[in-house]
Amino acid sequence: FAAQENISKQERQKMINTAHRGASGHAPENTMTSFQKGFEMKADYIEIDVQMTMDGELVIIHDTTVDRTTNGTGYVGELTFEEIRNLDAGSWFNDDYTGEIVPTFEEVLDAFHGKIGILIELKAPELYPGIEEEVAKTLKDRNMHKPNNKKIIIQSFNHESMKKSKELLPGVPHGVLAGLSWAGITDEQLAEFASYADYFNPNMNIVTPSLVGRVHEADMMIFPYTSRSQKQANHLINLNVDGIVTDYPEHVYSHPVHH
Ligand code: G3P
Ligand code: CA
Repeated sequence: FAAQENISKQERQKMINTAHRGASGHAPENTMTSFQKGFEMKADYIEIDVQMTMDGELVIIHDTTVDRTTNGTGYVGELTFEEIRNLDAGSWFNDDYTGEIVPTFEEVLDAFHGKIGILIELKAPELYPGIEEEVAKTLKDRNMHKPNNKKIIIQSFNHESMKKSKELLPGVPHGVLAGLSWAGITDEQLAEFASYADYFNPNMNIVTPSLVGRVHEADMMIFPYTSRSQKQANHLINLNVDGIVTDYPEHVYSHPVHH
């Protein structure tokens, strides 16, 4: 980790280290194995993508189709839970992971809450009417919606969905995700986001020192996505962001990786 040497240990350790879709550089994304790996690597949070099956089950998968990360085909919202559950979600990554399955939201909460933070992304919630209520109910059933219940954050690229979710779960921190088109964001737009969000989480390519300062000025925190190299992680640490969403948690702190 020679490349980490110019940044102090203290500076690295204050970064909130977030394992993107789990430690997805090391194991198939959004599986129990990638989440477990994120935990073992001592990340602060795992990031998960939540969608809904045709029959209303909340499942953890990134794309709106199962094509890329399983051996099946079709839209998540047009398959039943049973159909999705029978798919292999590991072999696309590497033969060693054959037999991985698509986890449910409940399984991830029950296995990891209290062990590691969970950054919950509602992925394409416009495709799943009522998903905000389902997520809220699932968290409330487990008493994970209280303001003192740290280390649960909900975020989405769909900002209307976040407004709605914040009303359902006022005690839970929320985040707005912002792609490249938000490079020119104004202070007025940041203030509007801050009226319901606690985090402004942009594509790392639009992050500048001035943006970091303005997000803080608006009273939000900033967790840019997605770092995939040591150089990118160092760059974000030097920009003084609050957290880093990365496929490789070891780029933020130098913890050994056990395969
Ligand atoms: O945490 C942000 C990041 O997960 C957003 O991008 O496409 O990987 O879901 P994506
Ligand atoms: Ca995500």
